[in-house]
This record gives sequence, structure tokens and C-alpha cells, in this order.
Amino acid sequence: MEITQDFEKLSEIKKDSIINFERTREVEKVFPSSKKSEVVLLKSGVVRKHYINGGDRCHDVEALKILGQSEYFPTLYAFEKNDYFYMQRAKGESLLDISNSKESVDVDEIYEKILVAFGQMVSVGYLDNDMKIEHIFWDNSTKKLTWIDLELCQKIYLKDPLNYIFRNFEKIVDELNDYFKSNLQLTGVKEYFKQILIN
Ligand SMILES: Nc1ncnc2c1ncn2[C@@H]1O[C@H](COP(=O)(O)OP(=O)(O)OP(=O)(O)O)[C@@H](O)[C@H]1O
Ligand SMILES: [Mg+2]
Repeated sequence: MEITQDFEKLSEIKKDSIINFERTREVEKVFPSSKKSEVVLLKSGVVRKHYINGGDRCHDVEALKILGQSEYFPTLYAFEKNDYFYMQRAKGESLLDISNSKESVDVDEIYEKILVAFGQMVSVGYLDNDMKIEHIFWDNSTKKLTWIDLELCQKIYLKDPLNYIFRNFEKIVDELNDYFKSNLQLTGVKEYFKQILIN
């Protein structure tokens, strides 16, 4: 297993829970996940994702090595290539759950943060092909947004990716408008991505 620099900053309890997981299996809860992977929350609060049939087509680790440094993505702590990895738990609840609950949130504020997070992803040359509100966590008390599941977050190889990027962003905004009955507009967004691509 490889560990990251952020692993070193963890509490001893969290470090131990990662190092000794195979032996102790101290799981607090199992998240509902696809047939491809198993995602669990350790008692220490760390999240572990394990690919059941190997993860050679899964990009989480590669993407989190870069994006995990950003406040909008989970920090990566340790990993075994194509097998499993450990990361920070996203605070709050998914936007899908929030939209189905009675909790009232400021959708404009959430939108602004999604735009910044999306911009950061584009600025390092990546795009998530599985972006959905289910994968965006929001903690309303701290206003923290965390974007999870980067399994399909891949390097963009297109020569002129602006329209592709814009269409992907449009999809998530459409989803937000559907679920939160909001009327978010895409004014200036294309120009914003264009500037990011130039820099
Ligand atoms: N870092 C995290 N913090 C909190 N919860 C997480 C985290 N990562 C995953 N989860 C929970 O585990 C679930 C499954 O994780 P993820 O989406 O990465 O796996 P998956 O196998 O691709 O699942 P699916 O295909 O259903 O999206 C998420 O929907 C979420 O509830
Ligand atoms: Mg997923």
C-alpha cells in the first residue's frame, strides 16, 4: 500500500485504522454502491473504496492524487493500485438526498461552488464523466461542498474541448434546476471555461 503526504497529517487513530484495516475490519457502515465497488466508512471516520473485480478502468486514485489537494474533493490518504484506496469522508449529505428532504439550502451558493470545483478540474485537464447531484455532498452548517466518486474522471484529450466541457457543466446545472426547482442560468460560463483553458 502506498501512502500520501496527507496520510502523515492524520491522527494516530485514523492512521491505525488504515494500516490495520485488513486485520481489524472496523467498519461503521457500508454505503450502497455499484457491483463494481464496495464503499465503507471505517469507525475512525475514514472512507475506503475497494474495486471488486479490479479497478484498471477506474480513475479515482489518479484524479484524487491531483484534485484531493483542493477543498472541493476528498483528500487521498493511501491506496493500492487497481484494488482499493482510503480517503476523507465528505461532510453533509448528497444534493440528491437534500433535494428529497425538507432542508432548505441556497442553490445559488451551491452552484457557485460547483462552478469553482468544475473549473479546478478543467484547469488540471480532467473531466468527470459521471457527474451527478448524487455525487455532490453539501454540508449546510459549514457551507462545504465535496464532489465524490471520480471513477470516471479522466484526462481530456480533445484538441478543442470547450464545447464538451460546457455541455457537461450544462447537464449538472439542468439537474440542479430539475431537482431544486431553481432557475440557474449559464451566463458567462463558457467564457469562464475558455479563460481557464487559455491559462
Ligand atoms: N468520500 C466519501 N465521503 C462520504 N461518502 C462517500 C464517499 N465516497 C463514497 N461515499 C458514499 O458511497 C456511495 C458510493 O460511492 P461511489 O459513488 O464512489 O461508488 P460507486 O460504486 O460508483 O457507486 P455508484 O455507482 O452507485 O455511484 C456514495 O454514493 C456515497 O454515499
Ligand atoms: Mg458512484
